[in-house]
Amino acid sequence: MDLQLETHVPLAAMNTFGVAAHAARLVRVHSQREVRQLVDHPELGVLPKLVLGGGSNLLLTRDPQALVVKIEIGGLRVVRDGADATILEAGAGVGWHDLVRWSLEQGFGGLENLALIPGTAGAAPVQNIGAYGLELAERFESLDAVDLTTGRVVTLDAAACRFGYRDSLFKRELAGKSIITQLRLRLPKPWRPVLGYADLERHFGKLGIAAPDAWQIFEAVCTIRRAKLPDPAVLGNAGSFFKNPVVNRTIRNEILQDFPEIVSYPLEDGTYKLAAAWMIDASGWKGKSLGRAAVDARHALVLVNKGGASGEEIHALASAVQQAVAQKFGITLEYEPVLV
Ligand code: EPU
Repeated sequence: MDLQLETHVPLAAMNTFGVAAHAARLVRVHSQREVRQLVDHPELGVLPKLVLGGGSNLLLTRDPQALVVKIEIGGLRVVRDGADATILEAGAGVGWHDLVRWSLEQGFGGLENLALIPGTAGAAPVQNIGAYGLELAERFESLDAVDLTTGRVVTLDAAACRFGYRDSLFKRELAGKSIITQLRLRLPKPWRPVLGYADLERHFGKLGIAAPDAWQIFEAVCTIRRAKLPDPAVLGNAGSFFKNPVVNRTIRNEILQDFPEIVSYPLEDGTYKLAAAWMIDASGWKGKSLGRAAVDARHALVLVNKGGASGEEIHALASAVQQAVAQKFGITLEYEPVLV
């Protein structure tokens, strides 16, 4: 079937901020073959492209000037169920949470800490999603991607993806240059729970559960997220809007002198992750609005659309928060979502 080009497509329902914008041209792709067809297409192939998954890591401050490529590649399968690990494969358009639930339904634990993260399987490696003590990189096997210039399909392993904290090759060198079509995950055997995160420890402590199973962790993560983070279906948002800044020991100690209560976590390489939410909170921005955009009243890392906010309005709020934190702590917070 030929690629179907849609024109003047409203994007409000395709980004979790619910910001109004239009795609002058949009194409939906349902398979790797269609992505390659797109690359070979005489007119569409040469256009700059904006790849859209679940739209949960995106702030549209204007109409995209590129051809919007909506990824709708489905498919879930068990590639190999071995003694050491189970390898699963998902089409890039599969909803991340659907994939987590499906894997548990098949009897395979390992992804439960990443329950309820919005977005698609294909977007998960781009920003190396992480929550409650686990990062995608720790469950990653490989992915297939189509090079948007040559149409070649490449398979990349974890080392090739160069994962970092909310970071990968796809946010840097390969940004806008390739489309991920399939994601493969490796769930090690035997399954081991990941329970180190304070919120989880507290949750199971209260319930008096010493050794939760994968489903119990899944339920716990869903409960904690629902209590702490606004549901994008109810209040437009893109999860954490800022990354937690990583600083060296000297800077951390300097800040600690002025702000002894600051929350920070030591990392393996001797650096420290500072809790951006704490700094925003301490800057007085939690729950505050600027126009129709606000810093969430429950979690200071999340910016929300109170209704009808434009992307520019949300961006203005983000800049104001960024400035306030820079003034107080001398640290410039980085945005997590992609800004268009
Ligand atoms: N805090 C405040 N004020 C707030 C919220 C939090 O002071 O309004 C403090 C908390 O008390 C806590 C610290 O900040 O001590 C950290 O808060 P939390 O445990 O909620 O985690 P986070 O660092 O703010 C990160 C991820 C989330 C992920 C959670 C749980 C980033 C940028 N965000 O948030 O990811 O769900 O940990 O693992 O790393 C996302 O990326 O969209 C996202 C939601």
